[in-house]
Amino acid sequence: MRTYLVTGGAGFIGSNYIHYMFRKYDNEIRIINVDKLTYAGNLENLKDLEGRDNYTFVKADICDKEAIRKIFAENDIDRVVHFAAESHVDRSIKNPEVFVQTNVLGTLVMLNAAKEAWELPDGTFKEGKKFLHVSTDEVYGSLPDDGKSYFYETTPYDPHSPYSASKASSDFIVKSYIDTYKFPANITNTSNNYGPYQFPEKLIPLIINNALAGKDLPVYGDGKNIRDWLYVDDHAKGIDMVQEMGQLGQKYNIGGHNERRNIQIIHTILDTLLEILPDDDPRKKNVSYDLIKYVEDRKGHDRRYAIAPDKIKAEIDWEPETCFEEGIKKTIKWYLDNQDWMKNVTSGDYQKYYKDMYQDK
Ligand code: NAD
Ligand code: TYD
Repeated sequence: MRTYLVTGGAGFIGSNYIHYMFRKYDNEIRIINVDKLTYAGNLENLKDLEGRDNYTFVKADICDKEAIRKIFAENDIDRVVHFAAESHVDRSIKNPEVFVQTNVLGTLVMLNAAKEAWELPDGTFKEGKKFLHVSTDEVYGSLPDDGKSYFYETTPYDPHSPYSASKASSDFIVKSYIDTYKFPANITNTSNNYGPYQFPEKLIPLIINNALAGKDLPVYGDGKNIRDWLYVDDHAKGIDMVQEMGQLGQKYNIGGHNERRNIQIIHTILDTLLEILPDDDPRKKNVSYDLIKYVEDRKGHDRRYAIAPDKIKAEIDWEPETCFEEGIKKTIKWYLDNQDWMKNVTSGDYQKYYKDMYQDK
């Protein structure tokens, strides 16, 4: 039975990935999920897996060398899928340090622990061992608003935020292990994900949550920045396909072919809520275009991201399957059906975060 070590599996993409993998492989695989449970990690995302013999949760910091080494020593790990990171640009602008700590140094700890466990005396690696580093398209910087330029795997890195700079650094560390030691790894650079279990500091769940509560919908700058949105299950599938079918040592861009301006996203969310909320739902009267509030722009705000997923299509035959209209409806329905989840994650520290982040805007 193949054993996976997933880092950051209690976060948004990691938890969706774990669900995807158990749906696909069921009892053919074993997953060990290592997560520090920061504000972004939530075991509720995985509560339906409790009691499964082939799933284990370990609470640990990826920067803790001994804790990570111990996991490798006690388990014959075949695959590492490394999601754990500080992931929010706005937080990185306020507090960059933890981004370098977790994203750069934590990745180094993961690489060293895997290298130590997998390396043979002659410097080659045990057959079949693979490490996948999950990264972002934000490492490539910002594209002009021309609708025809794209990020390719060969696009030079030009990160602007402390978040993207820390992810770029981690990508280079992984690349250096591939180039120096022939370490068996892949890097994936993916566009903005959306779907269930996303923490409401990111645009889509924040807008859904605020609209339902009749709170302002903060739009940074002119609202015309463009992101390339990918449904999270399509990303999970892409990760699995890269790890099983990609060429070791290669990087792959994973994108949704789905560019939208932020203001379009907000309009779509409002229209969808008005369409699917029943008339007798008291939240429906809160949902209004009047809630849209243009606020001060994000510092260093990247204008446009757009991935060309040509290489992953050509080599592995992966392509996005969920069109945005379908994906956003599924996502909104999930949030409507899981209001307790939202209540839990927005209690406590979230209130303080929200006040700090938006009070002056
Ligand atoms: P997230 O913030 O929802 O989850 C991150 C998880 O990592 C949380 O469970 C958190 O507890 C855990 N974590 C943080 N620091 C840790 C540490 N020191 N040790 C152990 N665990 C720690 O993030 P996400 O949106 O699920 O993103 C996952 C990965 O995908 C990240 O590497 C991110 O850079 C990348 N990515 C995200 C997107 C996106 O749109 N969300 C797009 C492209 C790439
Ligand atoms: P976000 O979800 O934070 O992802 P990223 O910065 O990694 O792309 O933001 C997506 C876009 O939405 C980005 O252009 C910033 C913008 N945005 C707002 O306009 N208002 C908000 O309250 C947030 C959180 C984001």
